[in-house]
Amino acid sequence: MDLVMFGPPGAGKGTQARRLVEAHKIPQLSTGAMMREERKSGSDLGARFDSYMSEGKLVPDKMVLELIEKRLRQDDAKGGAIFDGFPRTVPQAEALDIVLKSLGRKVDGVVVLDVPENEIVERITGRRVDAAGQEYHVRYNPPPPGVEVTQRADDNEETVKTRFRVYQEKTEPVLEYYKKSGTIVHLIEGTGSLDDITQRIQDALRG
Ligand code: AP5
Repeated sequence: MDLVMFGPPGAGKGTQARRLVEAHKIPQLSTGAMMREERKSGSDLGARFDSYMSEGKLVPDKMVLELIEKRLRQDDAKGGAIFDGFPRTVPQAEALDIVLKSLGRKVDGVVVLDVPENEIVERITGRRVDAAGQEYHVRYNPPPPGVEVTQRADDNEETVKTRFRVYQEKTEPVLEYYKKSGTIVHLIEGTGSLDDITQRIQDALRG
């Protein structure tokens, strides 16, 4: 199964993708996480990603596609993948269709997490990450005592505003692309407990 997790920054794409990984035994392919890893490694490529990410702008399609194509050809992604934060532009969606077709696959569904904007801002500004990359939320999922956490560099208010604007301009049209191409789109209410949202997604996927 190849599934696209879709929604604005902070909608819970990463959180729910991690839960689907366990249930479906396919990897989560998060372009944002891959780019953060590359940045952490101190490579030149990571520094190029950083120049876009720290301002909340999209990394150019060509760079993203190189990253995802390489990852998709790894063994663990042979049976499908959960795409998190990708595709984010119509050209990325078109390119994904081409790569999947070359592998005899297609996007089987798009899960859209619907969360009101005020809740999203609270989620993003409250997000914290530990050294291993585990994510928490100061209010909804606080880190255990003694675990040191930091805030993602792009989770400040100004960058979040840019990320929203970019989402509306560049990413929302991707949904129209999928609807027009006849791909199944599951609109999921993205508020409530993590378990409730996971259940809604699983119910929708079972049809
Ligand atoms: P990326 O890492 O993809 O960030 P994003 O899309 O902005 O999404 P987030 O990670 O902020 O949110 P999420 O929806 O995964 O929510 P989460 O589960 O963490 O991208 C970062 C940057 O990289 C981009 O700005 C861009 O520069 C670049 N980039 C990445 N991919 C790219 C691409 N394809 N093309 C070009 N550039 C690209 O949840 C958020 C918080 O809420 C957490 O604290 C969580 O604990 C909490 N939470 C989740 N669910 C609930 C709930 N139900 N109730 C309460 N709290 C909840």
